Amino acid sequence: MDTSPGLTLGSVVVHGATGYVGRHLVRGLLAHGATVLAVGRSDDRLEAVREQAGADGAHLVPVVADVSTDAGAERVAERLDGHGPVQAAFAAIGGWWEGPRLVELDTSTWSSLLTSHLTAHFLAARATVPHLDPAGSAYVAFNGIATLQPEARSGPVSVTGAGQSMLLDVLRAEEDRQAVRFHELCVVNPVVDDGEAAQATEAVVEISDVVATALTLARSGDPATHRHELGRL
Ligand SMILES: NC(=O)c1ccc[n+]([C@@H]2O[C@H](COP(=O)([O-])OP(=O)(O)OC[C@H]3O[C@@H](n4cnc5c(N)ncnc54)[C@H](OP(=O)(O)O)[C@@H]3O)[C@@H](O)[C@H]2O)c1
Repeated sequence: MDTSPGLTLGSVVVHGATGYVGRHLVRGLLAHGATVLAVGRSDDRLEAVREQAGADGAHLVPVVADVSTDAGAERVAERLDGHGPVQAAFAAIGGWWEGPRLVELDTSTWSSLLTSHLTAHFLAARATVPHLDPAGSAYVAFNGIATLQPEARSGPVSVTGAGQSMLLDVLRAEEDRQAVRFHELCVVNPVVDDGEAAQATEAVVEISDVVATALTLARSGDPATHRHELGRL
C-alpha cells in the first residue's frame, strides 16, 4: 500500500491492463481506492482482471480498445470525454521479445514490434494525456533495460524503448499545464511474482515493488524525475 503523501488517485487509466505488469497494477490501484479505466484488447481478459480483484473489481471500468490503431485510440478518447479528468495514467504496453539479430530481421516482424512497442505508446498518450487533470496528475510509462543499453537479439525492443523515452520527453516539452507530470519507470531487471526473488539466480524485482513504485511516482513524483530506475544494472 502506497502511503506517500501526494495526489489522491480518484480516477486513473491503465493501458496494457491485461499484461503481467498491467494487471497487477490495476489490482494495486483498485486496492488503493481508485476507479480504474482498464484499457485492453480483450473483453474476456479484462473480465478476468476484474474477477481476480474480488470486491474491488466493482471499481474497474473496462475499455476494450486496441490502442495500436486510430480506431482504438479514438474509443479511449471518447470514453474519457464522458468520464472527466483523471489523476494518473499508466502505460504498460509491450513486453519482452528476443529473435534474430537486426541484420537478419524481416520487415514484417520489425513493423509489428514498432506498432506494439512504440505506436501503441504514442496513441495511448494521444488519447489520454489531454484528459489528465490540470489541477495535478501524472503520466507514468513503463520501460525496461533495453532502453538503457543495447540488447543483442532484442534490437527492436531497444530501438522502440529509446523512442518511447523520447516520446515522453517530447510530451513533457509540449505540455503547458504546470501540474501535469511525465515519468518513465524503467524496470531494469526481470519482474517476478512476490516471494520469488529469494530463489532467483539473477537480479530480479518483485511485482509488488513495481506496483508500489508506480503508485508513488504517480502520487508524489518530483517533476524533475524524468526517469526512475528500479532494480540494479
Ligand atoms: N515483465 C517484466 O519482467 C518486465 C521487466 C522490465 C520492464 N517491464 C516493462 O513493463 C511493461 C509491460 O511489460 P509486461 O511484462 O507486462 O508485458 P506483457 O505481459 O507482455 O504485456 C504487454 C501488454 O502490452 C499489450 N500489447 C502488446 N501488443 C500490443 C498492441 N499491438 N496493441 C496494444 N497493446 C498491445 C498487451 O495487450 P494484450 O494483453 O491484449 O496482449 C499487454 O497488455 C513494458 O514496458 C516492459 O518493458 C517488464
